Amino acid sequence: MDCYRCHTNTNLAGKDSKVFKGIQFASCTNCHKDIHNGKLGNVCTDCHATDNFKNVRLNGFDHDKTGFQLLGQHRVVKCGECHGTDLNSKPEHKNCTNCHKDYHKGEFISSGKSGECSDCHTVNGFSPSLFTLELHQKTRFPLAGSHLAQPCQSCHYSGTEWKFKKDNFECVSCHTNIHGNEISAKFMGNNNCSNCHNVENWLKYSFDHEKTEFKLTGKHTQKKCYDCHKKDESVTPPVRKFASLNTYCESCHKEVHNYQFKTTGENDCLKCHTTSNWKPEKFDHNNTRFSLTGAHSLIECEKCHKKAESNGVMFVKYKIEDFKCATCHF
Ligand code: HEC
Ligand code: HEC
Ligand code: HEC
Ligand code: HEC
Ligand code: HEC
Ligand code: HEC
Ligand code: HEC
Ligand code: HEC
Ligand code: HEC
Ligand code: HEC
Ligand code: HEC
Ligand code: HEC
Ligand code: HEC
Ligand code: HEC
Repeated sequence: MDCYRCHTNTNLAGKDSKVFKGIQFASCTNCHKDIHNGKLGNVCTDCHATDNFKNVRLNGFDHDKTGFQLLGQHRVVKCGECHGTDLNSKPEHKNCTNCHKDYHKGEFISSGKSGECSDCHTVNGFSPSLFTLELHQKTRFPLAGSHLAQPCQSCHYSGTEWKFKKDNFECVSCHTNIHGNEISAKFMGNNNCSNCHNVENWLKYSFDHEKTEFKLTGKHTQKKCYDCHKKDESVTPPVRKFASLNTYCESCHKEVHNYQFKTTGENDCLKCHTTSNWKPEKFDHNNTRFSLTGAHSLIECEKCHKKAESNGVMFVKYKIEDFKCATCHF
């Protein structure tokens, strides 16, 4: 540095001379103004070297002696981020919100609480929060079953931001109705998944089949749901069929009789069968116009009911319109 910056001119006996003696240098403040007004102490070298005042070493300064301890994450925050350009300033610090803007955009304020960050956060970091499961049980959506095991993110994090207020929290606000139109309004109500489901496991549903138009009887009670309720693979994604199933027997069973017994619009298998087996348990030949008596009751059915064929379909012919003795006994 230029010698004359310190050895300034003085007037000695009418002549300009440089001062060499008596220059005060015990403290930096002999020549430098303490812009901190003494607030940071008078040992400038705690923080400054002589190269550049902007290069600050802060190990010498104990912020805790101010009314605001620097803890947790605040320790690594640059002085200026709180103080701006004026280190003598005393920033407000009653609430975190004095310095932190509301990340949650009023979500917690609007629910009647102060929204004060310290209710849920500490200076050690914003994540994880202090909002515990116990507190969650007091919200409008207590967590139960499989929901307890979910990370907070899966319900509250969009991938870019946290969101805690929900307009509604019916199951369908988070879960897709995978049933399409296959659960009728009678059982679904207003998206009431809980009519059948719980929050443990989707496949541990409860449903009373008696309430449908199709009561399960006989062999049907021993069948798996999926034996009847198959997936319709023609749609994407495939949907398991419930409401769109027909209740009439031939929608699932082969019409082996070539519609012989179909009377105007009706093809009632239950006239002769039950759901227990395909023997004609409810059929009584004596209720036909041709009772089986005498020798006739001892002979096999197929002696009178022969195999027939119509349009390539084989079937046993039960309808016999002409049954005079002579028709069969000539
Ligand atoms: C940063 C300020 C500063 C600068 C720059 C500086 N000096 Fe000094 N100099 C001092 C101080 C303070 C004293 C007084 C020391 C004392 O009183 O013991 C001093 C003392 C002296 C003395 C007198 C020593 C004695 O006999 O007591 C001489 C000679 C001198 N300086 C020469 C120079 C020259 C030449 C330069 C330029 C190369 C220079 N100084 C630059 C601060 C400075
Ligand atoms: C005798 C007077 C004198 C003393 C004592 C003195 N300085 Fe300086 N210092 C100067 C002068 C003169 C300059 C150059 C002019 C200026 O930039 O203010 C300077 C410049 C500096 C600079 C570079 C300027 C800048 O703005 O970055 C730093 C840093 C500095 N001094 C730190 C110190 C520190 C720390 C002490 C105490 C250990 C100290 N000085 C003691 C006179 C002094
Ligand atoms: C506890 C640490 C600390 C102490 C002690 C301290 N300072 Fe500072 N000083 C700072 C900080 C921090 C800044 C701001 C640096 C910045 O703006 O990047 C600063 C800035 C300055 C600046 C202004 C630099 C500029 O160009 O903006 C000067 C001049 C200065 N200090 C002088 C002093 C003097 C003189 C003393 C001794 C009386 C002193 N400081 C003691 C921490 C300290
Ligand atoms: C996280 C914010 C924050 C950071 C970072 C921070 N301060 Fe502070 N500082 C404050 C607050 C708040 C106060 C006021 C305390 C009070 O009211 O007594 C304060 C007070 C002070 C004071 C006392 C001011 C006065 O007028 O009494 C000084 C000096 C100071 N800080 C210096 C620093 C320096 C130097 C740094 C960097 C090492 C720093 N601060 C970093 C928040 C901060
Ligand atoms: C009712 C409790 C509550 C209040 C009040 C609250 N937060 Fe949060 N905040 C949370 C929860 C819970 C998270 C999610 C944290 C996690 O689990 O990672 C969060 C996350 C955050 C995050 C994101 C953290 C990350 O790493 O993704 C920030 C930033 C944040 N909060 C800031 C604030 C601020 C600032 C305030 C005060 C204005 C505040 N919060 C008030 C509960 C709260
Ligand atoms: C005087 C101002 C001030 C006050 C009061 C304050 N902070 Fe900070 N805080 C800051 C600044 C500035 C930062 C650094 C910038 C940032 O990350 O927002 C910070 C950073 C943080 C960080 C680290 C941020 C991160 O992303 O990792 C956390 C956590 C934090 N503050 C929590 C709090 C909590 C909790 C409170 C209340 C108990 C609080 N702060 C009060 C100013 C303040
Ligand atoms: C299965 C989904 C789900 C999971 C997992 C979940 N939450 Fe929630 N959370 C909700 C729903 C739904 C609400 C109710 C929203 C409302 O009342 O508006 C809620 C409310 C909240 C609220 C707001 C409370 C209030 O009073 O406004 C906070 C904070 C919260 N959850 C934090 C968490 C945290 C932290 C976790 C992880 C430990 C978590 N949640 C896990 C669904 C979930
Ligand atoms: C706020 C969002 C939300 C709401 C509301 C919600 N859930 Fe969940 N639920 C989830 C998340 C997230 C998972 C875990 C990811 C997944 O399996 O979809 C989950 C998982 C489940 C699981 C376990 C899935 C598995 O295979 O492990 C069941 C069962 C379940 N929820 C049922 C329900 C029912 C029933 C309702 C309505 C009473 C409901 N959920 C309401 C978010 C929610
Ligand atoms: C009337 C009863 C009933 C209602 C109401 C109902 N479900 Fe189901 N759900 C079932 C049955 C039965 C199954 C098992 C058959 C299957 O896998 O489709 C099932 C299976 C599921 C599965 C598991 C599918 C798989 O293959 O893992 C999910 C997810 C599901 N339901 C979601 C919902 C949702 C969401 C709602 C509300 C919108 C809902 N269900 C309403 C009866 C119902
Ligand atoms: C033997 C075939 C069969 C079996 C086995 C069966 N179902 Fe059904 N299911 C039906 C028929 C047919 C309907 C009537 C559809 C209708 O009323 O439109 C029906 C109706 C339903 C409905 C109501 C759909 C609606 O909204 O109208 C549900 C739910 C259902 N079944 C679930 C089950 C479950 C769960 C099981 C296993 C425990 C099961 N079913 C076993 C044939 C069966
Ligand atoms: C939604 C489909 C469905 C409907 C409708 C249906 N069934 Fe079934 N039924 C089945 C299935 C699946 C089985 C088990 C597989 C099989 O034996 O064909 C079965 C089995 C049976 C059996 C037992 C067969 C055996 O040899 O064990 C009888 C009998 C039977 N059904 C009668 C009926 C009668 C009668 C009706 C009309 C009242 C009817 N079913 C309506 C699906 C249906
Ligand atoms: C009028 C009485 C009657 C009606 C109505 C009737 N069946 Fe039959 N069905 C029989 C008789 C008789 C047999 C032969 C029993 C035997 O060979 O043991 C039979 C046998 C069957 C068999 C077993 C065929 C085989 O090859 O083993 C099936 C399957 C069957 N019927 C289905 C139906 C279906 C489906 C309906 C309704 C669409 C129906 N039946 C209506 C009388 C009837
Ligand atoms: C001796 C000849 C004879 C024998 C043996 C006989 N049937 Fe018939 N069956 C008839 C005649 C004739 C009719 C026509 C009666 C009518 O149209 O009312 C008939 C009608 C039927 C019908 C049709 C009923 C209707 O509603 O249309 C069935 C089913 C039937 N028989 C089943 C059987 C079975 C099962 C056996 C063996 C157990 C059997 N038949 C043995 C002569 C016989
Ligand atoms: C639909 C055909 C059919 C009709 C109609 C019919 N039968 Fe028969 N009948 C038979 C057959 C088949 C046998 C057994 C003969 C055989 O094994 O060759 C039989 C056996 C008999 C036998 C026993 C003969 C023997 O050799 O053991 C007598 C008796 C008899 N029928 C009388 C009658 C009389 C009477 C009528 C009129 C009321 C009549 N049947 C109507 C088909 C018929």
